[in-house]
Amino acid sequence: MDKKEIQKLYQEKIKLLNKYNQYYYDKNKPLIDDKNYDELKISILSLEKKYNFLASKKSPSEITGYKPSKNFKKSAHKVPMLSLANAFSEEDLINFEKKILNFLSENENFKLYYSAEPKIDGISASLTYKNGKFVKGLSRGDGKEGEDITSNLETIKDIPKKISNKNFPEEIDIRGEVFIKNSDFENFKDKFANPRNAASGSLRQKDPNDTSKIPLKFIAYTFGYEKKLNIDNQFDFLKRLNEWGFKTNPLNKLISGVKNLLINYNEIEKKRAEIDFDIDGIVYKVNNFKLQKRLGNVANAPRWAVAHKFSSNKAVSKIISIDIQIGRTGALTPVAKIKPVNIGGVQVSNATLHNEDEIMRKDVRVGDTVVVERAGDVIPHILTVDINKRSKKSIKFVFPKKCPSCGSKTTKEYNEITKKNDAVRRCTSEGYECEKISIEKLKHFVSKEAFNIEGLGKKIIENFWKLKLIRLPQDIFRLDYNRIENLEGWGRLSVENLKYSINEKKNISLERLIYALGIRHIGLENAKLLSKFFKTFSNFKELSNKSNYNDLLNVDKIGETQVSSIKSFFSNKINNEIINQLSKELSIKNTLIEKKNGLLKNYTFMITGKLSGISRAEIKSLIEENSGSTVSSVTKKLDYLIIGDKPTKRKIETAKELRIKIINQSQFLKMLNITS
Ligand code: IVH
Repeated sequence: MDKKEIQKLYQEKIKLLNKYNQYYYDKNKPLIDDKNYDELKISILSLEKKYNFLASKKSPSEITGYKPSKNFKKSAHKVPMLSLANAFSEEDLINFEKKILNFLSENENFKLYYSAEPKIDGISASLTYKNGKFVKGLSRGDGKEGEDITSNLETIKDIPKKISNKNFPEEIDIRGEVFIKNSDFENFKDKFANPRNAASGSLRQKDPNDTSKIPLKFIAYTFGYEKKLNIDNQFDFLKRLNEWGFKTNPLNKLISGVKNLLINYNEIEKKRAEIDFDIDGIVYKVNNFKLQKRLGNVANAPRWAVAHKFSSNKAVSKIISIDIQIGRTGALTPVAKIKPVNIGGVQVSNATLHNEDEIMRKDVRVGDTVVVERAGDVIPHILTVDINKRSKKSIKFVFPKKCPSCGSKTTKEYNEITKKNDAVRRCTSEGYECEKISIEKLKHFVSKEAFNIEGLGKKIIENFWKLKLIRLPQDIFRLDYNRIENLEGWGRLSVENLKYSINEKKNISLERLIYALGIRHIGLENAKLLSKFFKTFSNFKELSNKSNYNDLLNVDKIGETQVSSIKSFFSNKINNEIINQLSKELSIKNTLIEKKNGLLKNYTFMITGKLSGISRAEIKSLIEENSGSTVSSVTKKLDYLIIGDKPTKRKIETAKELRIKIINQSQFLKMLNITS
């Protein structure tokens, strides 16, 4: 095949895939089964891999998720619908509990109770009740805004339309899962690919009469906005839901201790086949609402809950080779290329080996027969090696000690918290000096949560890098469009589109810019916190002239790890040059801080010594939630010095000299009307 023919074949496949997408997502009428769909998708991706000149905005490598249907009006959730972090192992669960105890400043003797609820694999919905009347029902959408599917939800028998119990709150959003029983699904097999698809499809019918033809069920498990709920824990809330006429999962349990969570998990996993609806794990929620409130959220998931997923499908395959991939932060990740196998309907040909230690521990070698597992949406990984099937000639895998991309030394960093060397080996180059790291950094720069430049996806970044069109972030805003227009696969229209979407993103928030720079340990949440702290781009830029970064420790959740990585970012010449050049191309919006009238408004605080029963992170977030702020030194600007156990004497003396109010922990809590 010549280049033109390959291009044509590629475009045809993409067109077909998009037609299938439209039928599946918008019309709820899948034209093909999952397996054939996946095969088509994989064939497009492998064409792209084989032929570098192939690229399309409509390729599955560029598109993630799908747009909401245009059939419904959109409406905002009063309280966002969050998602859940996943746990796959006992170790993950132990860490989940450890983090909670750390945050609450409690030791392992503190008994945490969890509401353990089987996680139904359906479609979540939020039902608003005002004065006992069901008035509005929304789909989850992007978590902030959902589709108004009230009329369709009204057809579901399990959803009470009027609730007259005295203890029902004045206003509440009841949230739960819409699903179809597996036995009922039997009758709709020809129409929908699986039960989840049937639930989603029927909920999104234009005509509620069509929805009512499918026996949808509803199980309630949480709430969003509420007024006068007056309940203090999740398990009581579940009981109350029953009194109000909602169905809840009969397998919900109140459990304490990771060991008991695991016993329950194993019991339910065994029963899984007998249950008449699909469950894909168990959700654990800290039972006490007060503790939930203290724990709060990280990015878009609560700290107080986790989804313990069931391990899904496994298959046996053979390792063809072990490649080393280099990530944006320089991490060297070994990936096994395996003989393609079908796992749960998806063709798998790569499996991660996580890191060097994992290869050593399992003694994984090229040529080995292995069990590969694919759980949820995560990348498949190698579970076990069958040593009996190993050839006598097999040799131990030697992990490269130099970066395969730039030849720099690689190291395993020392972790101050675990007091051990990291399992991950990293390239020591500073970033843009290493080809592979540069490309990954650029992909991150244009990614959805960063600059979100439509039409400049991963494949195109790789292609432009090869053609030397983009080497550093600022090059994105100085592209040679005439040259691009003459490239294979590009034309005047596609170049105009690209130009438009790049120019559109020149106006950027400080938060997105900080995130896009890809500073290690500065994810979405931290970028947001930093942007609030710096407020303007010029304040942020000042970091390059700074010798002392300790001020940053005042920002809640920014610790030594983050500060040291910000420091090393700004000590790199190329990074400083990138920031200078970007400032010439972009218009960076200042961060607006909403002024709330909390109880601590206009007061500054500093903490010295160890507090009891509350971590520093928590006290800092309490201060900020109530419109106060924290500072890092005792100066005239300080209003209150909070002293704990073994405080620094010097700080107390200086505070006395400056006549600053000195208070203890319970006096502080009293300021917030909290009695300890
Ligand atoms: S609680 C903040 N409870 O899981 C808590 N979710 O990944 C978020 N789900 O979108 C929801 N059973 O569709 C919760 N007992 C349960 C659940 C449950 C199923 C689904 C729900 C949500 C997703 C979160």
